[in-house]
Amino acid sequence: MDLQGKCVLLGITGGIAAYKMANVASALKKRGADVEVIMTRNATQFITPLTFETLTGHKCIVDTFDRDFQFDVTHISLAKKADVILVAPATANVIAKMAHGIADDMLTTTVLAAGCPKLVSPAMNTGMLENPITQDNIRTLERYGFTIIPSESGVLACHDVGKGRLPADAVLLDYVEQALTPKDLAGLRVTVTAGPTQEAIDPVRFLTNHSTGKMGYAVARAAALRGASVTLIHGPTALEPVRFTEDVAITSAQDMYEAVTSRFEQTDILVMAAAVADYRPATVAADKVKKSDGDMSIPLVRTADILGTIGPRKTHQFLCGFSMETRDMVAHSAEKLQRKNLDMIVANNLKDPGAGFGVDTNLVTFLTPDGGVRQLPLMSKDAVAGAILDEIMARKGR
Ligand code: CTP
Repeated sequence: MDLQGKCVLLGITGGIAAYKMANVASALKKRGADVEVIMTRNATQFITPLTFETLTGHKCIVDTFDRDFQFDVTHISLAKKADVILVAPATANVIAKMAHGIADDMLTTTVLAAGCPKLVSPAMNTGMLENPITQDNIRTLERYGFTIIPSESGVLACHDVGKGRLPADAVLLDYVEQALTPKDLAGLRVTVTAGPTQEAIDPVRFLTNHSTGKMGYAVARAAALRGASVTLIHGPTALEPVRFTEDVAITSAQDMYEAVTSRFEQTDILVMAAAVADYRPATVAADKVKKSDGDMSIPLVRTADILGTIGPRKTHQFLCGFSMETRDMVAHSAEKLQRKNLDMIVANNLKDPGAGFGVDTNLVTFLTPDGGVRQLPLMSKDAVAGAILDEIMARKGR
């Protein structure tokens, strides 16, 4: 997501993980955000304000009464300027202060004054984190509308092993992005399918295809950031699970059929980006098939066509299919749209450069039942995902 025009205020408190926030500040800048940093005095023991000043191009504020940079009521102006505040790492001490309205330094004063979304990433020793006092304070912050980013488990700086680690940069960035994304899909239940299926031949071998899942994962992520309640049903992929979604891992076309149909009643929008196998071996050998000197062939039978089955039965659901072709793309895709009773189909041609399996871009054409055929320019899969959801929302509104 492009964060151009957004102001992210980082509140850095005195934990060892403070040094990791330099990377977060840098990543936010690279995405176009205006990054402001407030540090507590203790945080400056772990990393210097100069690091953040160099990365963000702004004065890093530590002392509430520092007046040598601008004559302004800074805690109020930053509180107004910020579109989101991320307090990370958040120590038990600062969490306690924020939970009780104590405003005795620049960070806690600004947090108390700000009306924007506030994210808090607790990072501390396991004992401090699990102490009921800290847990109560965290719950209090949640009650006041703060979003708590769960700490991760691992080896801590004190050599204890347990909960209390600051999550990876990517996790913090996802939370920031989520907080900054308008929630135009709030209240909608979106099911997305992605990736290939595997059809077993024997315990060792299977039939599959080249799908990596990137397009479907991008749709699931975009829908979740925009506030939908998302279920991502996917075949085997090498991708990280998508944050803020329910992750349903399946293997075969039949598994995917069952996973989709059992959720169909509760689905408002179904985006079928998965490359579901059309055929599976008629039987699965219980033991490894041994080779012989002659050739062999494997009898195949059709799998259930998921969209073909539920398309004719849809009630309130919006159905978006995908269509990958190597020739006559529009004609073939229009036929699928009609046969499966879809509301939209996203077509691409595997032979177009930049489109199809594995790459991070796609060149797609939207087809709709009103005869609409709209080709989009070559875009990142993230941008295509956004365009698909925009089109669905525009059509649902009609
Ligand atoms: N699909 C499905 N169930 C299947 C196979 C495909 O729901 N068993 C979905 C895909 O997820 C995709 C759309 O149907 O959204 C693609 O339609 P399909 O006719 O299967 O496309 P192809 O398999 O590409 O068609 P063909 O093999 O005829 O080229």
